[in-house]
Amino acid sequence: MFLDVEYGTCLVTPEILEAAAKRHPEAKALVLVHFGGQAAEMEGILAVCRKYGIRLIEDAAHAFPTKCKGRMIGSFGDATCFSFYANKTLTTGEGGMLATDDEAVYRRAKVMRLHGINRDIWGRFTEAKANWEYDVVAPGFKYNMPDINAAIGLAQLERAEEFRRGRQRCAEFYYRALAGVEHLDLPTCKGPREDHAWHLFWIVLGAACPVGRNRFIEQLNAAGIGTSVHYKPLHRMSYYRDRYGLKPADYPTAERHWQGVISLPIYPSLTDDELGYICEHVRSAAKG
Ligand SMILES: Cc1ncc(COP(=O)(O)O)c(C=O)c1O
Repeated sequence: MFLDVEYGTCLVTPEILEAAAKRHPEAKALVLVHFGGQAAEMEGILAVCRKYGIRLIEDAAHAFPTKCKGRMIGSFGDATCFSFYANKTLTTGEGGMLATDDEAVYRRAKVMRLHGINRDIWGRFTEAKANWEYDVVAPGFKYNMPDINAAIGLAQLERAEEFRRGRQRCAEFYYRALAGVEHLDLPTCKGPREDHAWHLFWIVLGAACPVGRNRFIEQLNAAGIGTSVHYKPLHRMSYYRDRYGLKPADYPTAERHWQGVISLPIYPSLTDDELGYICEHVRSAAKG
């Protein structure tokens, strides 16, 4: 089953989850996205998960470094998945990370990430005695991160908070410069801005905006400003729509968001002059 989200944050709330859990008592697990780099309300989400026996897998692809009430994302659910793809806030080029404090999940993931082999290379070649023996205990995958990528990640890690602060500066500029612009909604930041990874900063064009989204994007493009759309929701993707019979009317908030959403540039080296230039063009495009 798929869940709608809250307008402004694009997050699943404890209320949305509880309503779905009541309708679907057979639900076994929740995949929770910390959308755009903002944490979901973990206390409430965990309470609903416990109440209905739902295991929690967090999709933290946008959420490094993100905190919920001062505690790092990655330390809450049964398992948390991070993405270190090239466009993410911490990158290793490709790859990601699974965080868990569940011993069984850890052992299973370790075996499955490398061909279902029961011992990793490090374990086999670091002992002096003949120690080549290994077994394949499951039909595994090749999901290991190469050491070279991991080395890039370690260097990125040292600068993760500096990069996050740089993106927060961009977000704060947008909040100041775009507040009150007619036909534009800005994202809602519920907790302290320091807890947010600021992976995305989006605006939503209201239905009454005199200019359509594509025209808006073209106008910004013409001014040399790159944008994107995050995201066309799963209920509009043909596989999920057809396989599960999903209808836009069942996801009214995701629909409202997606119909008007445009992501603006957000990265640490964006200067205040550049941010000012972007905001000037956004304001003039919104007038039509
Ligand atoms: C919310 C979300 N989850 C998962 C992923 C997938 O990450 P990866 O490309 O590392 O598999 C992405 C990638 O953009 C994402 O945005």
